[in-house]
Amino acid sequence: MKRVQYDRYGGPEGMYFGEYDLPALGESEVRVSIKAAAINPFDWKLRRGAMKLLTGRRFPRGMGTDFAGIVEATGSKVTKFYAGDEVFGVLDFKKSGAFGEVVMVDSNHLTKKPAHISFSEAASLPTAAMTAWVAILDKAAARRGSNIFINGCSGAVGSFAAQLAVAHEARVAGTCGPTSRDRARAAGVDAVFGYSDKQRYAKNTKYDAIFDTLGTLGIEDALSMLKPKGVFVDINPTPGRIARGMLSRRYKLAFAASGLKHLPAIAELASDGTLWPTIGLEAPFSEALSVITDAETARRSYGKTVLTF
Ligand SMILES: NC(=O)c1ccc[n+]([C@@H]2O[C@H](COP(=O)([O-])OP(=O)(O)OC[C@H]3O[C@@H](n4cnc5c(N)ncnc54)[C@H](OP(=O)(O)O)[C@@H]3O)[C@@H](O)[C@H]2O)c1
Repeated sequence: MKRVQYDRYGGPEGMYFGEYDLPALGESEVRVSIKAAAINPFDWKLRRGAMKLLTGRRFPRGMGTDFAGIVEATGSKVTKFYAGDEVFGVLDFKKSGAFGEVVMVDSNHLTKKPAHISFSEAASLPTAAMTAWVAILDKAAARRGSNIFINGCSGAVGSFAAQLAVAHEARVAGTCGPTSRDRARAAGVDAVFGYSDKQRYAKNTKYDAIFDTLGTLGIEDALSMLKPKGVFVDINPTPGRIARGMLSRRYKLAFAASGLKHLPAIAELASDGTLWPTIGLEAPFSEALSVITDAETARRSYGKTVLTF
């Protein structure tokens, strides 16, 4: 089997196509033949060693967590899936390897692919939509009439966050780059600002929740834009931000992994059109090294990059 892997933490130059053998199928695992795998910023952050205390020093390590594909085999205790099922899901980040031909995945980490969305669309959902769900629904509690502000409302997480907030009848304002405004409006953001429009978006209204997808909003600035009981949700924690944020009970962190339980609901919302990913580029797996490098190093804002198999 072939996959994208690396032998040390570092930059994109360390990636290569490596051969790997599949271990025996665990009793709660499913073996999936990959049809599409979506690239997330988390993939190169992991390869750069951002979580090395948790990912350890055993190499080679595969890359990629989000995938869609076809079930090849199931472990003896798996009752929800059968060979031939079309599925999508997310690998535990400690076992990355979705940029490869076949994966073994815990049966709790995948769900059935809605019939009428493509493998590429399904692969674009897990990490970004799970994070958006945790941030906007679990932490920010978006509901009818809430005023939500999303800093970075045009990326994968930001777009899903806007779609979920709008589905719950919240009003959404947000920031994005100049070429992303139409995409933000299509996702339901009704007041779209540039990143430097702080005077305008800070005075627009007091918000019930602010979701910073980029980690660029000052915490004090954000807190000053909130209603007294409003919350500020962060998905790019740094020691400094956590230290400053923890001084406020209104600062909340959100992580994709907490959203795993929402994966079946995400599939339903993708099926009925409430959630829809934007795919910027589909490229064959054979081009994975250059495509991942490009996604990482060139500033692109046209949607998800997906590898197809
Ligand atoms: N805590 C967690 O569990 C978790 C989970 C998922 C993601 N994240 C983090 O959340 C962030 C967003 O993830 P995502 O998947 O939404 O990313 P994405 O799809 O790549 O979107 C990022 C957006 O940020 C904007 N942007 C602003 N400055 C940028 C720059 N210098 N380079 C590239 N884009 C820039 C771009 O929109 P404009 O062109 O409109 O500015 C782009 O569309 C990442 O830092 C990721 O690591 C955290």
